[in-house]
Amino acid sequence: MTDSVLSTTTASPTPTTHAAMTYRRCGRSGLDLSAISLGLHRTFAAERPAEIRQAVLLRAFERGVTSFDLANIYGPPVGHAEEFFGAIYRSQLASHRDEIVIATKAGVPMWDPPYGGGLGGGSRKHLISAAEASLRRLGLDYVDIFYHHRFDPTTPLEETASALADLVRHGKALYIGVSNYPGAQTAILSRLLAEQGVRLLVAQERYNLLDRRIEVGPVSTLSILADQGIGLAVYSPLDSGRLTDRYLAGIPEGSRATTHAEMGARVTEEYVDVARQLNVYAEERGQKLAQLAVAWLLRHPVVATALVGASSVAQLDATLDGLDQPQLSAAEFTAIEDLIAQHPHIMFA
Ligand SMILES: NC(=O)c1ccc[n+]([C@@H]2O[C@H](COP(=O)([O-])OP(=O)(O)OC[C@H]3O[C@@H](n4cnc5c(N)ncnc54)[C@H](OP(=O)(O)O)[C@@H]3O)[C@@H](O)[C@H]2O)c1
Repeated sequence: MTDSVLSTTTASPTPTTHAAMTYRRCGRSGLDLSAISLGLHRTFAAERPAEIRQAVLLRAFERGVTSFDLANIYGPPVGHAEEFFGAIYRSQLASHRDEIVIATKAGVPMWDPPYGGGLGGGSRKHLISAAEASLRRLGLDYVDIFYHHRFDPTTPLEETASALADLVRHGKALYIGVSNYPGAQTAILSRLLAEQGVRLLVAQERYNLLDRRIEVGPVSTLSILADQGIGLAVYSPLDSGRLTDRYLAGIPEGSRATTHAEMGARVTEEYVDVARQLNVYAEERGQKLAQLAVAWLLRHPVVATALVGASSVAQLDATLDGLDQPQLSAAEFTAIEDLIAQHPHIMFA
């Protein structure tokens, strides 16, 4: 089914925003993000049924998700997630532009070297070309947040900062973010942008119960973000499915553990044992494991939003249903931390 056929088959959604969703301020800025954002990586691959992808996208908006996370490489094929989102947006969401925060990223390899990203992906040459190409695929005049996707050790941060600041000055992006940057480089880029009158809004990092890498180090990325007033957009909040009930009774056909070998390798016996125990904690709270995982993240004020992926409307609904449930008590938090601390081998590394 083509995007244009899809666009005529569903009525324009009315957002039920605001009552059903929690919005959180992103760092020291004026921008609120929905506590849960929808990510369009992997689950928006072209090979997946377009009807499901469209339904997930529109359902998210109906339920008050106003923040959508893309990157030029998302698909596969690369560029497809932006094109697909752009088609649905133009046909069904365009009248809600002022209620939607659209983010995209560039910097990882997208086209051929030497200008296509990766090493040199922080260059002015790459970032400006990539941003223009994303806007063309999306069919937008501007994105709300433009991220440099990955720290590029071969390009002076001054050059990266000046290219990103120009995107804001030229009206192509309202805000700037970084992703997969070491904490120290995040702080430097933040200062360089500030010198040009542009605030670094947000850092997008992988973080969840089973991935604590941004908590560690003499000065952790988490503490740098908190100190600098930079919001944290958490990616893979469900550890790509390991913090859900997906694998509690085996590995289902079509799940990410069957389609991505690195994920399959993480679904070990020890992991399943821990996930079952976490699931018991969740059930004692009347929750699903995915909801517990999100509650664990949102207890931290620096977290502005959790970028979830969903391969069905049912998954998205289940995750969103957790938002109006009570926060973790200190005793529940300690019990979870004690359990995780006993199983270093199952941590994402
Ligand atoms: N900046 C970066 O470098 C970077 C990197 C990765 C991701 N991201 C962003 O983060 C987003 C989310 O990443 P992610 O997909 O790894 O996140 P995730 O939310 O941790 O995992 C999503 C997967 O978990 C499973 N799932 C979701 N909700 C469920 C539920 N309620 N019950 C049972 N299973 C459920 C699904 O697995 P199945 O597919 O098996 O059904 C789904 O595909 C991406 O779309 C992207 O926007 C950014």
